[in-house]
Amino acid sequence: MTRTSIRRQVRIAAFLTLAVACGGEQPAADAAASAASTPPAAAQPAAQQAAGERIYAQRCVSCHQANGLGATGVYPALAGSEYVLASDAGVPIRVVIHGLQGPITVKGEAFNSLMPAYGIGITMSDEEVAQVVTYIRTSWGNAASAVTAAEVASVREASKSHSGAMTAELLRPLMAK
Ligand code: HEC
Repeated sequence: MTRTSIRRQVRIAAFLTLAVACGGEQPAADAAASAASTPPAAAQPAAQQAAGERIYAQRCVSCHQANGLGATGVYPALAGSEYVLASDAGVPIRVVIHGLQGPITVKGEAFNSLMPAYGIGITMSDEEVAQVVTYIRTSWGNAASAVTAAEVASVREASKSHSGAMTAELLRPLMAK
């Protein structure tokens, strides 16, 4: 193999990684990339987990950290969080879809800050929200139920009249379930 063709292969590999990292929404993303972002719900748990982990790495890790522990006083933990583990998965789904602002207590620690919708303010499909919420509910020792795209769609519908970020106040009735 010539040096040029190796370089070209490296470039192609980098492009594919980028296409996959962008959730397969780019028109140029190949079939493998879009298949990876939309595996049939629950049919491929390992693929679902990998997709959720990838989305977490793109959109959440800079604040909540790879170990899900956040940063003291600045970013709340997702590991062991009552919001992530709520038996009504509509709680973390709403946080991801709408963002969150204002005073909140997580694992006994108080925060009063702002999280942008989708982590970085750029919208995600129901499938992607399901993947990342499933990831945070089943990582770092968290053991709450997985979430389907259909569940995300119904939460989106139920909360569509809401504009702006969620608040602890708005989530409280769902937490009590
Ligand atoms: C820019 C930093 C930032 C990013 C990126 C971010 N968050 Fe947050 N997140 C926060 C902050 C800050 C809060 C607390 C907001 C408040 O004080 O009301 C929060 C709160 C939360 C909560 C509720 C409280 C808790 O600790 O359980 C969940 C769930 C959550 N984020 C999940 C996510 C997920 C999933 C992503 C990626 C899709 C993400 N966040 C991306 C900053 C961020």
